[in-house]
Formats: sequence, C-alpha cells, structure tokens
Amino acid sequence: MRIVVLTGAGISAESGLPTFRDADGLWEGHDPMTVATPEAYDDDPDLVHRFYDERRAALGRVRPNAAHVALARLEEALGDDLYLVTQNIDDLHERGGSRRVHHMHGRLRAAWCTTCDHRASWHGPLRDRPPCPACERPTLRPDVVWFGEVPHGMDDIERELWECDLFVSIGTSGLVYPAAAFVHYAVGNGKRTLELNLDASGTSGDVHESRRGPATELVPAWVDELLSGAGVTS
Ligand code: OAD
Repeated sequence: MRIVVLTGAGISAESGLPTFRDADGLWEGHDPMTVATPEAYDDDPDLVHRFYDERRAALGRVRPNAAHVALARLEEALGDDLYLVTQNIDDLHERGGSRRVHHMHGRLRAAWCTTCDHRASWHGPLRDRPPCPACERPTLRPDVVWFGEVPHGMDDIERELWECDLFVSIGTSGLVYPAAAFVHYAVGNGKRTLELNLDASGTSGDVHESRRGPATELVPAWVDELLSGAGVTS
C-alpha cells in the first residue's frame, strides 16, 4: 500500500512550536502578511530576518515528539511506499528519524542566495547579512516559501498523490493552498483519505474519516494499527 502523509504545524505543537492559527498561534502580534511575503521582505527585510532568526533559534530548544517518531517508524516499515510531505519549515521530522521528507514550504535551517541561487544549510542568524558561501554577496534570505511564491516540488507531490492508495493529513488547518487541495485531488482520484487533527479543519468534511485528538496520541496509534493490519513488522 502506498501512502502519502501531509503534515502541518499541529504535529509540532506538542514539541513546543506554536501553530499559525490557534489561539496561541505564532502570528499573534505579527500579521503574517507583514513577515511572510516577498513584498514584506522588500519593505522591511530587518523585521523579516528577525522573525525567522527567532524561529530558527527556537528549533534548538525543542525536540521531536511521539508523532514524528511514529512516522519515522512507518517509513522504516514501508520504505518508498511512504511519501511524507510537510508544510512545516522545522526539522523535527528529520530529527525524529525520517530520512525522506519533502518540505514543500522550504526549511528554516537553510538559506538561499538571491544573487547566485546557491542554497546552503544554515543554523545561525541572517539579520547581519552574512556573505553567501558561494558568491560572497550579502544576499541570503531564509529558504522558505512565502505567500505568493510557488511551493517546492509540486510535480512530485501530484505524482505521489496520483499513485497512492491512502492520503493522510495530520495537524493542518486545511486553509492554505495548494496543500489544502491535496485531499480533493486524492478523493477525486478515488483514494482513501484520513485526517488526524485536534479540531475540525477546513477539510474535515471532505475526508472519508476524521479522528480528533492530539497528534502524539493519534499518530502512534494509527501507525500501530496500520502496521499490524498490514502485517508489516516495524
Ligand atoms: P495552522 O496553524 O493553520 O493549523 C494547525 C492545525 O493543527 C489546526 O487545525 C489545529 O487544530 C491542529 N493542531 C493543533 N495542535 C495539535 C495537536 N497537538 N495535535 C494535532 N493537531 C493539532 O497550521 P498549518 O495548517 O500547518 O505557510 O498552516 C499551513 C501554512 O500556513 C503554513 O505552512 C504556513 C502558514 O501560513 C507559509 O508560511 C507559506
């Protein structure tokens, strides 16, 4: 069985990273449009750099949780039959043990040079405009996808959705496109769909099955169920 799993901020919430749209969401006090658009970066690059520098630094203070670890266990059992695509820019899937993660909205711990197109792993701040490791120009920006920009690898995602048997969405509000449309694409092409989320989401009404609860409980339980049902040992 081929499975596509889409994750959002909810899977990292219990690790201590605030989600975007919940009551304690990260955007409180910051209108997302003031920090997550190319226009915002043109208008006030210092604000945008400070915002992402703080988020990058916060990664050092959090750890993957049982939901991330369970998905790594699923990858171990299914190999290439699991395609994990995340909207998250944190690295908790990798630190939880997943080896193949498609970051459709980019990665916090990466920088992109707008002069020479070089991409580099990046763990420190960018606000002081460090030189690009390739061309030495001070033109590195966070390697994240902002509103109005095209998410990474949409062709790959579409192919995986087309080829899968089951689509599972975990911890996402289903409000941001194109990710919010994956479930419609899956349903429209006859795939089984499941949602694991704390609350009702924008796409709860569209999935075949919706389970409500914290990711650290729902995801390990679903992985256990799947692996025992499929007769695959982890
Ligand atoms: P949101 O903050 O919009 O939604 C988080 C979802 O996780 C909500 O539906 C919550 O109910 C759920 N949730 C919260 N805690 C949970 C828990 N412990 N267990 C399970 N579910 C939980 O985050 P995303 O849907 O990821 O894009 O947001 C999508 C995109 O919007 C982000 O990637 C980002 C943002 O703007 C860009 O920056 C381009």
